Amino acid sequence: MNVNNTKNDGPPLPEREQPGEDDPSGRRLRKMLGQFATGVAVITTCEDNGRLVGVTCNSFTSVSLDPPLILWSVANTSSSGPAFSKGKAFAVNILAATQEDLALRFARSGEDKFDGTTWEQGLGGSPLLEGCVAYIECRVDDRYPGGDHAIILGAVERFVNLERDPLLFHSGEFRRFTQP
Ligand SMILES: Cc1cc2nc3c(=O)[nH]c(=O)nc-3n(C[C@H](O)[C@H](O)[C@H](O)COP(=O)(O)O)c2cc1C
Repeated sequence: MNVNNTKNDGPPLPEREQPGEDDPSGRRLRKMLGQFATGVAVITTCEDNGRLVGVTCNSFTSVSLDPPLILWSVANTSSSGPAFSKGKAFAVNILAATQEDLALRFARSGEDKFDGTTWEQGLGGSPLLEGCVAYIECRVDDRYPGGDHAIILGAVERFVNLERDPLLFHSGEFRRFTQP
């Protein structure tokens, strides 16, 4: 076995803190977690009564290739959360660098999130917003409790990849790749 452990001779890591300790509002925990750079998606669905639902999300991640599964998590306080019930169709709209306005629009509560947007119907009527990088049409495989969020596991049924430049999110700010 090739073991190649190197002792760090430089200064040690700063003192670690425990969640909650001297950080009751979770501000420092949230700030630290925000160092993990992500893309941004709008997750959409269409309720049985035809009402359209959309939520800006950066908790999206891939889970499994075989079977194809993805997940995202929705806050228990989100008015959109209950729409993503087991078996329900939904779409992941991966936002392009030019779509910061959509990211902001779908991060606000309200009945008018889709006003003035252009979209076409995906599986189950889930809106596919114009101009995105990629679209993943899914069905809710299951929902799991995850503290103050619910984890939505989605089975991928269809996808299309337009390979545009993505919108990024890091340290609480929208970013985009710059060419060297
Ligand atoms: C960049 C960004 C990422 C977000 N990611 C999530 C997320 O992963 N899960 C979530 O529940 N809310 C997330 N939000 C907040 C929701 O978009 C927002 O609370 C929600 O759309 C409010 O409307 P609703 O209560 O009608 O759903 C995010 C917001 C922003 C700006």
